[in-house]
Amino acid sequence: MLPDLPKALSLKEKARLLAEYDEAPVNRTVKVDDSVYQYLVASSVKEADILRQIRAETSLYHMARMQISPETGQLLAMLVKIQNPKRILEIGVFTGYSTFSIGLAMASDASMVALEKKAMWLDVAKRYIDEAGLESRLQTKLGDALESLACLEQEGAKFDFVFIDADKENQLAYYQSVKKMLNKGGCIAIDNTLWWGNVAKPEFQDKHTCQVRAFNDFVRADDEVDLSLIPIGDGLTLIRKKY
Ligand SMILES: C[S@@+](CC[C@H](N)C(=O)[O-])C[C@H]1O[C@@H](n2cnc3c(N)ncnc32)[C@H](O)[C@@H]1O
Repeated sequence: MLPDLPKALSLKEKARLLAEYDEAPVNRTVKVDDSVYQYLVASSVKEADILRQIRAETSLYHMARMQISPETGQLLAMLVKIQNPKRILEIGVFTGYSTFSIGLAMASDASMVALEKKAMWLDVAKRYIDEAGLESRLQTKLGDALESLACLEQEGAKFDFVFIDADKENQLAYYQSVKKMLNKGGCIAIDNTLWWGNVAKPEFQDKHTCQVRAFNDFVRADDEVDLSLIPIGDGLTLIRKKY
């Protein structure tokens, strides 16, 4: 037998329920321990050969852990395929894993600008860009990202999709600059918004943790955007410009 449907609450009951409601959600996100993580990767990640090559080559370098995770790359590719952006911007290329995750997913009439300040990393990424024949649609700019963004803004550049993954000091400055160049309905994905989980732990008061916390607070208070913080990789916040 089906249980009785709950009766509709009166306005007074609704008000009391809302006043007493404990906001902590009971159906929380699953805890991703090593076994769940391995399952997630084995059962869902389908990595293109070139991405695997970039990941293998990057593992030889000392800063390899700066690279986004394969499942994060796959999520970025999925977002690009769903949104079908025509103009894409990336801040923080490193050896190109995220660049290629996005670049391989973009439509044939789309193009991308990718910013990086270190020539030695950009040289690695450019080798792969040439190898893949993407150089006509994937432009790289070497230099400080804030300066490159100022130039793009001056040129009147507009974007539909932006991935931010550079230094944390400038996260907010990147966001503010990029938002001005983002078309209505455009999307920003920004990495490291959980910062090794440290943002949630009050004992962490170091500069970077505080900067990421301040960024998260800023975006949550910004009524001009929709947002979702996804616990993938080191935390990925998706931001959509409403107007
Ligand atoms: C976390 S890594 C990016 C990883 C990359 N998205 C990937 O998946 O491989 C950050 C990159 O941002 C670059 N970067 C840091 N500060 C920068 C700045 N002010 N301007 C441009 N690039 C910067 C670093 O040199 C580094 O390559």
